[in-house]
Amino acid sequence: MSSFYLTTPIYYVNDKPHIGHAYTTILGDVITRYHRAMGEDVWFLTGTDEHGQKVQKAAAEHNMTPIEQCNSTVVRFQELWRKLGIRNDDFIRTTEERHKEIVRMILQDLYDRDLIYKAQYQGHYCVPCERFFTDKDLVEGNLCPDCRRPTNEIVESNYFFRMSRYQEWLIDYIQTHPGFILPAYRANETLGFLKKPLEDLCISRPKSRLSWGIELPFDPDYVCYVWFDALINYISAIGYGKDPARFEKYWKNAHHLIGKDILTTHTVYWPTMLKAIGLEPPQTILAHGWWLIGKDKMSKSRGNVVNPMEMAEKYGVDAFRYFLLSEMSLGQDAAFSEEAFVARYNSDLANDLGNMLSRAVKLTLRYFDGKIPAPGVFEMIDKQLYGQVAEAVDGMEKAVRELRLDRGIEQVIGVVRAANRYMEQTAPWTLAKKGEMDRLGTVLYVASETLRIVGGLLQPVMPEKMDRLLKTLGVSGSFRFEDLRNVGGLVPGQAISDIDALFPRIQPLEPETAGNTKKAEAKKADPKKAEQGNAADSSAKHAAPEGVAITIDDFAKVQLKTARVLAADKVEGTEKLLRLQLEVGGEKRQIVSGIAKFYKPEELVGKTIVIVANLKPVKIRGVESCGMLLAAGSGERLSLVTVDRPDFPSGASVG
Ligand code: ME8
Ligand code: MG
Repeated sequence: MSSFYLTTPIYYVNDKPHIGHAYTTILGDVITRYHRAMGEDVWFLTGTDEHGQKVQKAAAEHNMTPIEQCNSTVVRFQELWRKLGIRNDDFIRTTEERHKEIVRMILQDLYDRDLIYKAQYQGHYCVPCERFFTDKDLVEGNLCPDCRRPTNEIVESNYFFRMSRYQEWLIDYIQTHPGFILPAYRANETLGFLKKPLEDLCISRPKSRLSWGIELPFDPDYVCYVWFDALINYISAIGYGKDPARFEKYWKNAHHLIGKDILTTHTVYWPTMLKAIGLEPPQTILAHGWWLIGKDKMSKSRGNVVNPMEMAEKYGVDAFRYFLLSEMSLGQDAAFSEEAFVARYNSDLANDLGNMLSRAVKLTLRYFDGKIPAPGVFEMIDKQLYGQVAEAVDGMEKAVRELRLDRGIEQVIGVVRAANRYMEQTAPWTLAKKGEMDRLGTVLYVASETLRIVGGLLQPVMPEKMDRLLKTLGVSGSFRFEDLRNVGGLVPGQAISDIDALFPRIQPLEPETAGNTKKAEAKKADPKKAEQGNAADSSAKHAAPEGVAITIDDFAKVQLKTARVLAADKVEGTEKLLRLQLEVGGEKRQIVSGIAKFYKPEELVGKTIVIVANLKPVKIRGVESCGMLLAAGSGERLSLVTVDRPDFPSGASVG
């Protein structure tokens, strides 16, 4: 059986975890669950980084000893992982003897081989980053180039690791191993860093300045630099120096997940350390982007730190896992907001997936006595949906191997949307009315089988909810990719059960920056788009629990009218919003819309557009908006709905 070893960073225990930590660990959990579904021998490691100045400082602030600080904070991480359904195989704490022992062994070995030496050191130290910088690294006088906080100047004797020796080797290794650092632009960042001469790495701290660390085995006046200690967790935890068979098995297929903040330590320090002790680098180091709050960094001082425990409690663990994984496109930064969360939840989970399940279940209960019907002859439309399902299975497997989970998820949700369209096109409720029970059976079989495979594909992301979905269809257990390839595997005659809404709709929050644009396509791959208009909301597409999406009477409630744009300007202090002055028949009105990215104000003047005229007025950023304009959206593009005769009057009804 092939092995697969995945690690998260080990987190500092100076403070409780936030959504950034939750994201990396959930990502690791989901990736490893997929690899288990591929039948691999998986080992998933997470843990905590407990030494160093940050932790010592936090302990002092809390009037605790450092180990008390560690013990009281580590449980916050462990509780959170339990709550979030994380299935790690091990949890390493760097204060454990099994780790310290290996760090000491490595230090002694490098010292004995003269790869560690003592020298006088002058430098600038950044406490929050726990890193030294030289004069030329600093920015704006004495600020840390990473976090831009003031550094302290230090002159002292210290021990150094001969990192400079491996510069050429490392450059060559990165250049000849394209998948080593992901995404590829991060490899370029590291290569950029390696253009400057690589210096030796200071790996000690005199106890007079910092006592909280692993004592150097060859000099009791010093402790080990926290990063040199921490990185070793990846090998100490799987039996390096203790259990060679186990170590070899996992190390040969090791993958590290990290945030982009710790790229240099992982792609420069760590590979050179491994080289010095005669080990191969890991197979991949994947650096993901940053969760931002709006445009800001999350920080205690800004008071905008999002607590993952609260999110999971408020909205449910699985929905939270789903949001984090689908919203961040791997590598890039993403904006976190509760509005975006609710919009995506209502659109993907409540409207698309939950609704599809409830349609299939209700119809099977009603017309087939709650038993999966046997399919008859497959028509083109059935085969097309099956084709899309099979593609999504391959797509997900590929996405997992390429560490692009967000893409795999998007493809699966695409299948769910297609399945809802399939229901509209095949109109099972009409088939039932006409008594075409054979065809109805085939349609409901195809619908349930699609849901079974979708449920299996999303099980690693939403384990509990997908277990419920599958149980409803009368199937259980963890899926392997193999089972999902067997389209048509659902057994006819199998009893299904009734289910309450799997994803009850959440009342949408007041969108802070939402413009009033009704988008034709409710797709929000991009958080910016989620803010553009509350598409999930306005899309009544799948809102009906079963049968026809809406009736003509429902549609008639929406008054669509033509409107002429008389004037347009930007709403002060926003980037997305335009204020439009419109003429609607004899009447004037104002609409605010999030289309500034797509249209210049002057382009709009004179156009005859289509608006929803009877929408309740709202205030957007303090500006009154009476109605909503119609626009079509596709990917990054947006186009207003206009009338095609240039002299057509405003105020005319559209329908
Ligand atoms: O750096 N967005 O620990 P740490 C996304 N102990 N991910 C984030 C994030 C955000 N806003 N904030 C944090 C350390 N993370 C060291 C690591 S490894 C040998 C030692 C995640 O507690 C992301 O994975 O500061 C980042 O790399 C990690 O938390 C840093 O956690
Ligand atoms: Mg950090």
